[in-house]
Amino acid sequence: MHPAGLFITFEGIDGAGKSTHIAALADAFRAAGRGLTLTREPGGTPLAEKLRDMVLNDAMDPLCEALLMFAARRDHLAQVIEPALARGDVVLCDRFTDATFAYQGSGRGFDLTVLRQLEQWVQARPDATGLRQPDLTVWFDLPPDVAAQRLAGARVPDRFEAQPVAFFQRVAEGYAQRLAEDPARFVRVPSDRSKEAVWHGVRAAFEQRGWLQPAQAPA
Ligand code: TYD
Repeated sequence: MHPAGLFITFEGIDGAGKSTHIAALADAFRAAGRGLTLTREPGGTPLAEKLRDMVLNDAMDPLCEALLMFAARRDHLAQVIEPALARGDVVLCDRFTDATFAYQGSGRGFDLTVLRQLEQWVQARPDATGLRQPDLTVWFDLPPDVAAQRLAGARVPDRFEAQPVAFFQRVAEGYAQRLAEDPARFVRVPSDRSKEAVWHGVRAAFEQRGWLQPAQAPA
């Protein structure tokens, strides 16, 4: 018998510092001997990575943007996420559907009813037992003005990173709304603090659920 798979997603506005903590969690799960799948959205399969390149760089209307995000997600679920969960892996996924509600829904003002319909279609489980949703979503919550300072001059911005602070304010509100709709699925990690303090908050969420053993105190 292998352990039950775990589907963990990571969210937050650009500049919130997800990547470092995802890498640290991957190390912690590997050290614990768990099978691990590390992936991201949009992307995670050859087809979805092509869609990512288009959606981050080519001009398009909000419906097209939302459809491409969910098209990429469908391929990613079918090719990578569902098979990994079926073999008992821990799947760490950098962004998922909450990002679509936050960026396309709240940020761009796209119709949430349409997004909910797409969510129902795309996340239907292969065995028809309902919707595939993350077991836990870690939301790195950072004030948009702090994120903007962190991102300034860091690299050539994509279509989202180039947005003004007001856009990210709406995106953050979109995340807060998704948390309010399903609080048990989320852990909110305030991220306007040191990397160590943020990591402590992340790790604690996994220890509380019995998914990681408490870290050894340094000798
Ligand atoms: P990001 O995780 O920021 O990638 P990187 O760290 O390599 O820049 O994700 C890329 C962007 O895609 C980010 O700005 C958010 C956006 N995005 C959406 O707008 N909708 C979605 O559904 C997803 C998954 C991402």
